[in-house]
Amino acid sequence: MTLASTTPAWATLEKLAAERGARSVAEAFVADPARGTAMSAEAVGLLLDYSRQRIDADVLAALARLADERDLRSRIESMYRGAVINVTEKRQVLHVALRGATAEAGAHSTANANADANPWGADITRAVLAERARMLAFAESVRAGRIRSSSKQPFRHVINIGIGGSDLGPCMAVEALRGLAAGGPQVRFVSNVDGGDLMDALAEVDPASTLFVICSKTFTTQETLANARTARGWLASRLGEAAVRDHFAAVSVNAAAMDTFGVHPDYRFEMWDWVGGRYSLWSSIGVSLAIAIGAAEFEQMLAGAAALDAHFRSAPWAQNLPVLMGLIGVWNVNFLNLPTLAVLPYESRLKRFPAFLQQLDMESNGKRVTASGTALNYETAPVVWGEPGNNAQHSFFQLLHQGTPRAALDFLLPAESSSGLPDHQELAIANCLAQAEAFMRGQAGVPPQRIHAGNRPSSILAFRRLDACTLGALIALYEQKVFVQSVIWGINAFDQYGVELGKKLCEGVLPVVRGEAGAGETPASMRRVLGFLRSPPSGRSSPGGG
Ligand code: F6P
Repeated sequence: MTLASTTPAWATLEKLAAERGARSVAEAFVADPARGTAMSAEAVGLLLDYSRQRIDADVLAALARLADERDLRSRIESMYRGAVINVTEKRQVLHVALRGATAEAGAHSTANANADANPWGADITRAVLAERARMLAFAESVRAGRIRSSSKQPFRHVINIGIGGSDLGPCMAVEALRGLAAGGPQVRFVSNVDGGDLMDALAEVDPASTLFVICSKTFTTQETLANARTARGWLASRLGEAAVRDHFAAVSVNAAAMDTFGVHPDYRFEMWDWVGGRYSLWSSIGVSLAIAIGAAEFEQMLAGAAALDAHFRSAPWAQNLPVLMGLIGVWNVNFLNLPTLAVLPYESRLKRFPAFLQQLDMESNGKRVTASGTALNYETAPVVWGEPGNNAQHSFFQLLHQGTPRAALDFLLPAESSSGLPDHQELAIANCLAQAEAFMRGQAGVPPQRIHAGNRPSSILAFRRLDACTLGALIALYEQKVFVQSVIWGINAFDQYGVELGKKLCEGVLPVVRGEAGAGETPASMRRVLGFLRSPPSGRSSPGGG
């Protein structure tokens, strides 16, 4: 894999950035009032308005050439056709099959295994459809009270135990779609290992009507297993050991570990190595979401994502939403030196969306070598952060308007609020548009403290309302954007070796923390903090200075 910086398009973009990167977008709008129409694209119910980005037609053309020079079209096809594009882990990458497999495609699958509807092959379609049907039937039975607790009560609470991709996607989506959750049990999420999440959840539920869902692709993740074991002990101590089989469901590739834990065979769901954790919401990892919103809405979410995928696979670059977002992101990171991306939804129920995107983008593209190991001489994933836009206005927008760190901004803006309060949504829309305008125009001719430099690049991603289908499309849009950028940068978006070192060191540190290791085995760097943590409360000085 060559470096992107060796391509002719990269050199053109460097030249364009030096010549035009600082040009005023506000002035470009004065010169060309049609810029807003020209620099926008609409597909699958989403409008991307990128007219406030610091780009022009030449920059866009050079970015499109960069996509061609990096072979983006054939790389997209390789993913769909099940090539082993996760080269370091030697795996296919087929989250697209999780939403693209349909009963219709499955019916045709034997006739032509490589038909366009099943580019990943008929076997994968069959496996996906079968496991999806099992999972959704389970979710519906839990919702309807057909699957019951050990004391034959319907489940009123579901506690999902997982972390990373086994938590962030489902948790974000349950929050986003909470308006659709009527009639099902209440679903909560437990992830952190310190016990706070777990104890808070357990304090609010009755064991006799609580179902735990352990989500872990590997079933070896320390945090998840610690929380799952404690939950199991809590349940068994209250309802007896025999109750465990009625109160625990699980999702994993690791059948043996689910067995050992004591998960009932009917309550176990399979996933596959070709699904990355952060891309797994569409698999049975979404079971808690399916319990919350029901099978029909879960399928709507899959349909929204599949529609976005079909658009991604076929639309020309100039209309292709993930490609446009990916290329503009590359322009911002590599040519305008904007190292962070703030994601600002004007829809409170998307409050966990920035956190979800952090794993998606940074765990995928936070890399410093190409897929084949050559050191890069350019930046990769931006630091992704964010908060519902209105909250953000009253916290960190000061820095974005007048501070020194630099960011690009994504505004997410529905026409209708999921709250059903149109007057409120008018306020939200006005706030969002005013902020985008302020970031673009800035303010001059005032005392220095009041100057806004302006020319802060932003995009607006607008949609009708946050329903399941739109959420699916939005998530898939960002997933594919991340993929586009990985292709441009020449990196493997689907491994995550950067998370391993800390996990491995933790194995050695735990005996030290527990006091089981010899004195000489405590690293010098840890002694001060461990000494403080171990000192009896009376030996410490209080914050008040006592
Ligand atoms: O720590 C990173 C990670 O490996 C993620 O990629 C993954 O989503 C998460 O841990 C959880 O892993 P698992 O689903 O195997 O418990």
